[in-house]
Amino acid sequence: MVVVRALDLTEDRRLGVAPPEGGSVLLLEKVHSEAARLFHDAGFDVESVPESLPEDELVVRIPGVSVLGIRSKTQVTRRVVEAADALQAVGAFCIGTNQIDLEACREKGVPVFNAPFSNTRSVVELALGEIIVLFRNVVEKSWLLHDGIWNKSAHRSREVRGKRLGIVGYGNIGAQLSVLAEALGMEVHFYDVADKLALGNAHRAPSLKALLEISDVVTIHVDGSPSNAGLMGKREFRWMKDGAVFINLSRGFVVDLPALKDALNSGKVRAAAVDVFPQEPGGNEEPFSSELQGYRNVILTPHIGGSTEEAQEDIGRFVPGKVLDYLRQGNTRLSVNFPGLQLPERRGAHRVVHIHENVPGILARINQVLAEAEANITGQYLKTGEGIGYVITDVDGQCPPEVLQALWEIPRTIRVKLLY
Ligand code: NAI
Repeated sequence: MVVVRALDLTEDRRLGVAPPEGGSVLLLEKVHSEAARLFHDAGFDVESVPESLPEDELVVRIPGVSVLGIRSKTQVTRRVVEAADALQAVGAFCIGTNQIDLEACREKGVPVFNAPFSNTRSVVELALGEIIVLFRNVVEKSWLLHDGIWNKSAHRSREVRGKRLGIVGYGNIGAQLSVLAEALGMEVHFYDVADKLALGNAHRAPSLKALLEISDVVTIHVDGSPSNAGLMGKREFRWMKDGAVFINLSRGFVVDLPALKDALNSGKVRAAAVDVFPQEPGGNEEPFSSELQGYRNVILTPHIGGSTEEAQEDIGRFVPGKVLDYLRQGNTRLSVNFPGLQLPERRGAHRVVHIHENVPGILARINQVLAEAEANITGQYLKTGEGIGYVITDVDGQCPPEVLQALWEIPRTIRVKLLY
């Protein structure tokens, strides 16, 4: 698809004022109202639909839509992407993007943006709360009182101050938890497969085994890569200190639940909190069952680690920010399916983006077209990856529609846009 805009160098946009957008945004699944406001203020027509749309209906609704916003239920399949004749970007107002055919979007030159850290703080707060509640034995005490038993004993009730917190996965969540846990007086140790900067006084453990052996509480915050399936199994629970606390707020398949159950039965794990499960119900109406039900020393929560009003609001702000930054500046940093480029706005220049299949020689062809048009290149950035190439070119002087047409005619071109 080629998007050709006539250029008038007397317009404000030449001076770097954000261009008027135009186009339509379709927001599904009760995306936070902040998103609709931001797109509306940017000049889009916004349609909000409270529920997710099934594939057949989305195929009918998607033509003419410039930006599609979804949460975790809507399936953006190849069929949907093929029916999308005006789609410029997809916003996933959540963390996961498995519901989107990222390859189909990429092949069509459509970047997808999500909100990888909007709910980081929410997960960290839940982890901290659970650590305190489990150390104090609050859950069991509460169950007893519900049963009419007054047990005021301090037995097995501990402070978290001075205890060793073992964080597995020192990414966005793990690292923030590290900082807050230290503020509570905990001694933080972590293990990560990647080289991570230890924040504050946190100690890096040389191996998972070394971390599990010393931690009073182990909390899992690894990502959902398939290699993490069964990361915590029988052997790993055996490595843990006797009577340690265990928490999983990452992904269900990371922990072997029968092994955790054995560890609870033997007292190896004294208490646990689990928010994510290998099989989770598809919705609130479906039943839930797990081998951990009935344990009074286990907190079970329905994958709500990141579900807070603050996180939803932040997602509603963050994703439109990324989408609008792409539409205005061509920036793709943090896109989940596009090579990441981030450039400052260049005043007094025109910016052209060219998306193409990742084959040799395209950059030379682009520059040949621009040279023949006597357009002076003032900046150019190319990034390739996963089958596509993405070039942002800033030019002085003229950039008339014929030049854009010539860029579009370069073989293997997916999309050409003049941003300003
Ligand atoms: P992240 O990608 O920033 O961090 C993950 C870290 O784990 C990385 O530093 C990575 O190097 C490390 N890692 C991966 N495999 C490892 C292994 N085998 N051993 C040690 N370290 C390993 O991810 P973020 O944002 O911190 O999220 C962490 C997890 O929390 C993810 O699985 C995410 O899906 C989950 N999550 C759960 C939520 C909930 O509602 N319960 C909400 C938000 C995130």
